[in-house]
Amino acid sequence: MISNTLPYYPNSAKINSKNHLEIGDYDLVELVERFGSPLYVLDEQTIRETAREYKKALADFYPNSLPIFATKALCLQAVFAIMAQEGFGLDVVSAGELYTAQSIQFPADQVFLHGNNKSKEELQMACEYRNNEGGAKTIIDNFHEIKLLAEIGKPIDALIRITPGVECHTHDYIKTGHLDSKFGFDLEQLDSAIELIQSAKNINLIGLHSHIGSQIFEITPYQDAARIVLEQYVRIKEKYGIEFTHLNLGGGFGIHYTESDDPPNIREVIKQIATTVKSLLSEFNLKEPTLILEPGRSMVGRAGVTVYSVGSTKQVPEGRLYVAVDGGMADNPRPITYQAKYQACLVNRVLVDEESVCTVAGRYCESGDILLKDINLPSDIKQGDLLAVFSTGAYNYSMSSNYNRVGKPMMVLVSNGEAEIVLRRESMEDLIRNDVLPSRLIDISESAKNQISQKSWKEKVH
Ligand code: LLP
Repeated sequence: MISNTLPYYPNSAKINSKNHLEIGDYDLVELVERFGSPLYVLDEQTIRETAREYKKALADFYPNSLPIFATKALCLQAVFAIMAQEGFGLDVVSAGELYTAQSIQFPADQVFLHGNNKSKEELQMACEYRNNEGGAKTIIDNFHEIKLLAEIGKPIDALIRITPGVECHTHDYIKTGHLDSKFGFDLEQLDSAIELIQSAKNINLIGLHSHIGSQIFEITPYQDAARIVLEQYVRIKEKYGIEFTHLNLGGGFGIHYTESDDPPNIREVIKQIATTVKSLLSEFNLKEPTLILEPGRSMVGRAGVTVYSVGSTKQVPEGRLYVAVDGGMADNPRPITYQAKYQACLVNRVLVDEESVCTVAGRYCESGDILLKDINLPSDIKQGDLLAVFSTGAYNYSMSSNYNRVGKPMMVLVSNGEAEIVLRRESMEDLIRNDVLPSRLIDISESAKNQISQKSWKEKVH
């Protein structure tokens, strides 16, 4: 049974007098009546309070710092605007994410371009994105990128990404800081990278970057990574006379998807990392660089809830009870990709006396499209019930697809009883917008429009 205070709930979640789930003081039953389902719901309060938790902890333990939101977790203009208001920068990884930042005039000097295979066009875009305070910066990942930047020839501030060789406990696909990683320079390659950068003249080297993985619950790997990175600062300072001004220790801080997840609280993470960095700086006698952190999931994950409508249910004789909903792997690819676990409840009757075990299946044509395996839900769950799946704010919409040509859901931002669309629902027109029908096929299409019989259709095609 679900109670009022569960760690994966958005901060504003409440169970109201009708036994409905409310987020941002908006009854989710009414929200779905107004906007339809599936619906991505985003709690503004959770995002802002999380941002302030990061900012406050940094102000207390390491004021010379800049948190930047890893936009791959949730790339939307409205979210970027909130981040700007909360004093966050952005970590973008593509022309599309960069363009989204530019489209709302996000302060250029607070934007950092990442990526292990940035194109020349993407690098060019970053070089040209400037405001009065400075320009967008890049995190150099490989030798190829240095050559591209040298060819572009425009000035840009850059950090170098290194692979610190730190192991942490998370899913294999989302580990990045171990040695056999596609990201960043191995420590042995670092000097060659620096020398190539120095010969390029237009690249202003400001620091090093490391990112050890995602959905991490331990703090020690960050402390280990900080030591490895700062050891390089001393070495580089001695060998090349470069004094770095920035230190970026990446993102990856874990969140609650279920009660058994055990992420440390943000203040504790920042305190420990900041304390370690400060003591290393004094041990190595280094000037304090600006500390950059790149949280993605922990900024928006718990703010998101996806609401689905229940359709068919199927009791396999002597087997599982399958409850099918109107979304699935296309709006949340994490269960099928990472075997990710989620929690859920019915929105229209949250607290119930009797629950039984069922399996929530998506609507997509793939047996693996299972959103929640063996989860307790009301025993009398039926068609028309509304199901909320929690912690879907990060890497759900951003990894969504149009599999089976189903349009992506709408996203609404809720706050203080107001709901605003921040992402329109995709229409049928949207789905065919990029289709091109070669003219030689048009007569087939005309025939199709005239509803030709199956027989004559086959004759035409074969
Ligand atoms: N910085 C860098 C360089 C990254 O590669 C990432 C995530 C982040 C920051 C943000 O990490 P976060 O704070 O969100 O954990 N699609 C996967 C997660 C992939 C993470 C990729 N990099 C998932 O759904 O779990």
